[in-house]
Parts: sequence; C-alpha cells; structure tokens
Amino acid sequence: MKVFQNVSDIGPLDQALREAFEIKADRYKFENLGRHKTCLLIFFNNSLRTRLSTQKAAMNLGMNVIVLDVNQGAWKLETERGVVMDGDKSEHLLEAIPVMGSYCDIIGVRSFAKFESREDDYSEKILQQFIRYSGKPVFFMESATVHPLQSFADLITIEEYKERPRPKVVLSWAPHPRALPQAVPNSFAQWMNAADVDFVVTHPHGYELDPQFVGNAKVDYDQMHAFEGADFIYAKNWSCPGVVNPADYGKVLNKDLSWTVDAAHMAVTNNAHFMHCLPVRRNMIVTDDVIESPRSLVIPEAANREISAQVVLKRILESL
Ligand code: CP
Repeated sequence: MKVFQNVSDIGPLDQALREAFEIKADRYKFENLGRHKTCLLIFFNNSLRTRLSTQKAAMNLGMNVIVLDVNQGAWKLETERGVVMDGDKSEHLLEAIPVMGSYCDIIGVRSFAKFESREDDYSEKILQQFIRYSGKPVFFMESATVHPLQSFADLITIEEYKERPRPKVVLSWAPHPRALPQAVPNSFAQWMNAADVDFVVTHPHGYELDPQFVGNAKVDYDQMHAFEGADFIYAKNWSCPGVVNPADYGKVLNKDLSWTVDAAHMAVTNNAHFMHCLPVRRNMIVTDDVIESPRSLVIPEAANREISAQVVLKRILESL
C-alpha cells in the first residue's frame, strides 16, 4: 500500500478486520517488521489521539518514529507556487517535502481543511503534494476531506460491539460553536457504505455531505425518526459542505441544541451504543449522561485507533 486515504486502499474489509483482531490479540506479533525503518508523523494541526496512537502503533512494529509539529519550531511554510516569499514564510513546501521524505520510510500527514477554497480542500492540495514529492508512502492522519484511521477504528469498534449481524448505524450531525471540517463524517460515510451495516445519515437541511462520500446512504432530515431502532449512534458536527450552495462552504448554518444527543434521543433507539471520535464538546454534541452511560463506546473507540494505525503501517511496511 503506497497511499492510505480511502476505504478502497485497505482492500476487503473482512480481511482487514481479521488482521485488526489478530493484532489486537498480540500487538507485538510483528515487532520485527519495522526494524531499521523510520515513520515520520507531520502535524499541521493539533492532535491527541492520532499523535499517540499512531506513534504507539509504529513502535509496536519496531519502527523508529519522528514527530514534527510544523507550526511549533519548524520554518513557516509557503504552500503556493509563484508567491514572492518576502513575508514571514521562510521555506517552501516543495523543498520541505522531499527533504522530509529523505529522512524516513513512511510519512503520515495531518492537514485540515483551510476553508479558503472548497476546490483546494476537496482536491486535497496539501496531501497530494506529499504523495507526489516525498518519494515515500503517505498515509492520511486527517486531511481536508477524510480521516480514514478514525473510520477504520470505528469499524473495528462496531464489529466488536454489534449485537446482530447487520446493525443499524446512524451518523448524526450535532451542534458545535465553531466551523469544523467534514473529514470525519465523509470518511465514516465512505466506510459504512462499504461495510455490512444498515447506514442512515441525519442532519439539518444545508448540511448535505459530498455525494462522493455519502453515496447511496439513506438521508433522513428527521433526527428522531432516524434514531428509531438504531444500534449505533455516531454523533459528529460538521460545517456546511457547500453541496447545495457553494457560497456556504465551511459556514456554521445551525446551532440548534435540539440536535444534541440526549437521553430522549437514545430512548427511541434499540438500546444503541453511543460513538464519537473525540474530542467532544459536552452538552453541545452529547449530554453528560449519554457519554458517561454504559452504552458509550468513546473510550474503546479511541483505543482502537492504535489497532487501525498498526494494520495500516503493517500493510505499508509489507509493500516497501
Ligand atoms: N479523533 C482524533 O483524530 O483525535 P485527535 O484530533 O486528538 O487526534
């Protein structure tokens, strides 16, 4: 595997899940695979889970790990060609990327949507340059449009906790004070569409996800109706994807707290498990009692980030 971006990059999901559970049973089984190999993790944005879980996964495989926070201690990077660099940016991404590639065998990159241009974000302008110029396999640690390590961990969690063969999984928009990217819901929709689940998306009008991700999933604008009989509720905020009105891309169109997942919402489900990728704003996205309930999976879900990262790194190491 040279790039990990989409669900299709991991191949058949049943095989990926088998590998995940094999690693979960013995996470040091492949501890020699990454010997004398270096994994470089590059963060343009903050992280707790992705940083720690990916680092741990690489160490479980015997790799050396270097972590770079681009905005803390590195030269400020210019990303546009043709710019006269007479401002505060000292280095161009086009030199920085191949230099970074020369110090490692695998590169993970986190670079969120900037919301300056839908076209730039949805063409994955930054990550595509890493793929093109680093000379090394690149895995996405949350880009402008996708967060595949998260979605793979979510799938592992659903597989572990499902109580019927084809569970009903509902992705629900929930309110948030700031404009958040669409990467998590995009990826989650993509992975759930590929998995053996009954998948429903619910959100207010104006929050329609890009068709390349939502595919043929059922969309229900009535949140309570969508929750009926659900086995898993996956809550997440996202800003306007600009599908209906491109001028609204990245805007917060709605802060309606009636969309907050609370006990009344959970009461109409099939005793559903609650999921969220974290970090989460309590009593905006979900109430204290729901996230603290025995049906909340937010902690095991985050723990599975180590497993999803380890499967991906293993696959990349095997292809070097
Ligand atoms: N869920 C997730 O990616 O968490 P971090 O932003 O803390 O890495």
